[in-house]
Amino acid sequence: MSIIKTLISVVLFLLLPGLLTPSCNSNRGQLIPYVRVDIYLLLYADLADLGIGNSKLIQGGVNGIVLYRESDFEFYAYDRTCTLWPKHDEAVVEDPTFFGVFECPDCGSTYLLMNGGEPNSGPARHALVQYKTSLSGDVLHISN
Ligand code: FES
Repeated sequence: MSIIKTLISVVLFLLLPGLLTPSCNSNRGQLIPYVRVDIYLLLYADLADLGIGNSKLIQGGVNGIVLYRESDFEFYAYDRTCTLWPKHDEAVVEDPTFFGVFECPDCGSTYLLMNGGEPNSGPARHALVQYKTSLSGDVLHISN
């Protein structure tokens, strides 16, 4: 009987830390709920004030979307949900000191808009969720 107890103790000792430790990999995409994104913006009206290298907040996605203009006709759209703990429902906000950097007000993770929304500093390990952008004529379509 004591051998069985010892075996159970050993198995629990080996397995429990892995089961109790949250895995960053398991956060991505699974906890960020899917929200249909289907937004049309006019290049010379809705986006006329968005210069190259600048960003603009628009409604949509889980916690809002940040749209970044890379060049005249290149745009990147990211969900503003911090990827460290998406259940916190925390929206990243523009870092006032660094251009093109957004920061989670909760954990301090920073994300680079010009680099695929990849985390730059802080505990987050995954990029912001990115939506598709396509420009047809003077209409920008943001979708997933
Ligand atoms: S959202 Fe709470 S950790 Fe960044």
